[in-house]
Amino acid sequence: MNETIQKNLNYKKYVVDSKLQYFKPHASKIEKTFAEEISFSLNRDSKFIMPKFFYDKKGSDLFEKICSLPEYYPTRTEIDILKKLQTELPSFIDDTFRLVELGSGSSIKTRLILDIFINLQKSTEYFPIDISEILTESSEQLLLDYDSLHITGIIDTYEGGLEFIKNYDDKKNLIIFLGSSFGNFSPSDGKNFLQKINSTMKSGDLFLIGLDLVKDSKILESAYDDTQGVTAQFNLNVLSRINDELDADFDLNNFSHHSIYNKEDQRIEMYLKSLVNQSVIISKSNLSLNLEKNELIHTEHSHKYTLDQIRTLLENTGFKINHTWLDDNTHFSLTLVSKN
Ligand code: AVI
Repeated sequence: MNETIQKNLNYKKYVVDSKLQYFKPHASKIEKTFAEEISFSLNRDSKFIMPKFFYDKKGSDLFEKICSLPEYYPTRTEIDILKKLQTELPSFIDDTFRLVELGSGSSIKTRLILDIFINLQKSTEYFPIDISEILTESSEQLLLDYDSLHITGIIDTYEGGLEFIKNYDDKKNLIIFLGSSFGNFSPSDGKNFLQKINSTMKSGDLFLIGLDLVKDSKILESAYDDTQGVTAQFNLNVLSRINDELDADFDLNNFSHHSIYNKEDQRIEMYLKSLVNQSVIISKSNLSLNLEKNELIHTEHSHKYTLDQIRTLLENTGFKINHTWLDDNTHFSLTLVSKN
């Protein structure tokens, strides 16, 4: 890779060829944040690990596996809805739009939106933002299949990537945030995040968000505790990541995956349960951790919404709804909004 420094943005720019480039903040910035955040979140009575830390290379691969599990309905349902957009989204965009994606996990979904752009435009620009370097693999694969595509990948947090886009140029953006990833934020972080997106957007920009809907508890609980144990591996993998990157000694055999649907708060709650009394050292976080048998480390909330709640949330964060698409069972939603 040919490497140059983009001074004003504090990012390194990696140019692969005329169709592919990446921007990445300096490595020390990400590593420091991880060690500090783990030190904060595990050094307290109610312990937690932020779900954004699931997505190292292995975690991203495991999440891809989850997406094709029979129990995990969100991905295939959202794909069905995206197929409906093929004929309906073109009336909302034109050939001056660029596609910006928050997360770049599932290339099937990305492709369904890219198909729409490619059909409308001579040359299409796609800016995926993802903390994981899986972005580099999926980008190279996309370029093999789309001749008129130009990709600028931003390997950073969503907030960092949004700030990058805001400062980049004046081109019109369709920002997409699919897969109900928004549901993994706490309500207050979610609200702040929508406001952040809103403040990044120019008038004329569009934002498409995929959100999971409230439904029968049994459907929800089996989606997050599959019979093949892939979700369990995904959950436990965050401990392997801490072992590898922060020099820790978690023994994965001493933990189990635990998930429940909290009806009142409309969310799946995921935890790692300590199976024994144990101590763990996390060297780079300067932490010696004591866990009791059955103690829970919270790892994820996955919120589910009613259509009314989605409308209120978006309107209260400065958006105007252009259109909402649903599947026949009303299991999942896609909402297109612009700045109010
Ligand atoms: C990424 N996110 C939307 C997934 C979800 O459904 O909340 C993460 C996940 N966790 C367990 N299974 C899937």
